[in-house]
Amino acid sequence: MNKDSSIALLAQRLRAEARLLPAGERLPSSRTLTERYRVSPVTVSRALALLAAEGVVVTRPGSGTFVAERRAAGRPADFGWQSVVLGEGQGGVEGMARLLTPPPADAIALSGGYLPLAFQPLRALAAASARAARRPEAWQVPPLAGLPELRAWFAAPVGAEPSDVLVAGGGQAALWTTLRALLRPGEPLLMESPTYHGAIIAARAAGLHPVPVPMDGRGVRPDLLAEAFARTGARAFYCQPAFHNPTGAVLAPERRARVLEAARTAGAFVIEDDFARYLAFSTPPPPLAAADPDGTVVHLASLTKPTAPSLRIAGITARGPVAERLRACQLVESYYPARPLQETALELVTSPAWPRHLRAVSAELRARRDALVRALAVHLPEVELVSLPEGGMHLWVRLPDGTDDTALADAARAHGVIVGPGRPYFPAEPPAPHLRLNYNCTPTAEDLAEGVRRLARALRSRPSGTSS
Ligand SMILES: Cc1ncc(COP(=O)(O)O)c(C=O)c1O
Repeated sequence: MNKDSSIALLAQRLRAEARLLPAGERLPSSRTLTERYRVSPVTVSRALALLAAEGVVVTRPGSGTFVAERRAAGRPADFGWQSVVLGEGQGGVEGMARLLTPPPADAIALSGGYLPLAFQPLRALAAASARAARRPEAWQVPPLAGLPELRAWFAAPVGAEPSDVLVAGGGQAALWTTLRALLRPGEPLLMESPTYHGAIIAARAAGLHPVPVPMDGRGVRPDLLAEAFARTGARAFYCQPAFHNPTGAVLAPERRARVLEAARTAGAFVIEDDFARYLAFSTPPPPLAAADPDGTVVHLASLTKPTAPSLRIAGITARGPVAERLRACQLVESYYPARPLQETALELVTSPAWPRHLRAVSAELRARRDALVRALAVHLPEVELVSLPEGGMHLWVRLPDGTDDTALADAARAHGVIVGPGRPYFPAEPPAPHLRLNYNCTPTAEDLAEGVRRLARALRSRPSGTSS
């Protein structure tokens, strides 16, 4: 059992125990609890802290832990007034929490955006964070746009100057800051269709109107992009030219200049979300921003994907006056990302372990991609693989016409496999039913075939496999 779940379990037992005792009664000592429940002293103190925060117990240093006074049972709280004051909610934001919810323990996860524990560089991160946190300056205000060496590291693949980079608190924060800095509520935002679900949610939460621009296996269609700029007057286009989420597509070499040209002609920005650069199976294509001298492209790169979800450090690279806007926007939102985390990220990416780590991750992801493709061919021949990604963490498959992807994802969950329905990835109505299948989440590559077998059973168990 991991530490978090043993803390939760102990807290649950102590909560039940406290409920049977009168207020003011002393709980057994930490030592007794350690022996009785065969857990570590840290687990005991974390569980007691949890109960203290809930108001179930009070801790008096030097005397022990006591059952707290219970609140007199009164009428249930009436929060109705808040609904009136708050007004309309931000529809779809709950989808964000769903993206981050861990799968049930007994399910096979073919959905989820981070590396499995076995492939996160946890030892290197522990060493890097220990070194970083020991430095006295680690806890002080950092240079406001980020540590200079970290800015230089993010600038290198783009061929930019370190001074063009703003260090942000993860890819999602980088995207949010960029949307807020570049656009005003009510404006259109062009987006590839399909695209990263979290970007659609963020755009809507920023008051923007996502406008879909179709793509195919070679990325966005530049002719339709130019048309969309002309029709909507949009001032920005959000895209992922490398190992696109969800399709895995890479923008074709002959389309790169045309995409930049369409944006330049429209006098608009390109927001390049380069989230999977460090998950390439071989040398990735250069960022679009590398071929952009005039500040058209704002480039976002995050460290969470090739490392661990809580190394929430990203770089926003931008040239020209927009860089100042971005810096101002982040200062107002959150000041700056925590310096110990910036120091940790810098230690990690400049350590000798970093290139070894990237090589191991890339080899593992490629083997897993192949295993998932094989399993689909054997167990689910009725789905069509849209493209064979050369990087990233997922496959995008088209389901037989008429399949309800959301209902299928629900049925799959009931069969013990978690998959991502395609619908939330489309800014407007989906043209066909799809699923996103991640190969990065399961503890081992062998679990992938079992996941596909369960998905096949779910598909075939639905009445004629079609929409309900
Ligand atoms: C395309 C894309 N951009 C950005 C993010 C945000 O990643 P993070 O905030 O963890 O860096 C994700 C996460 O899934 C993503 O898929």
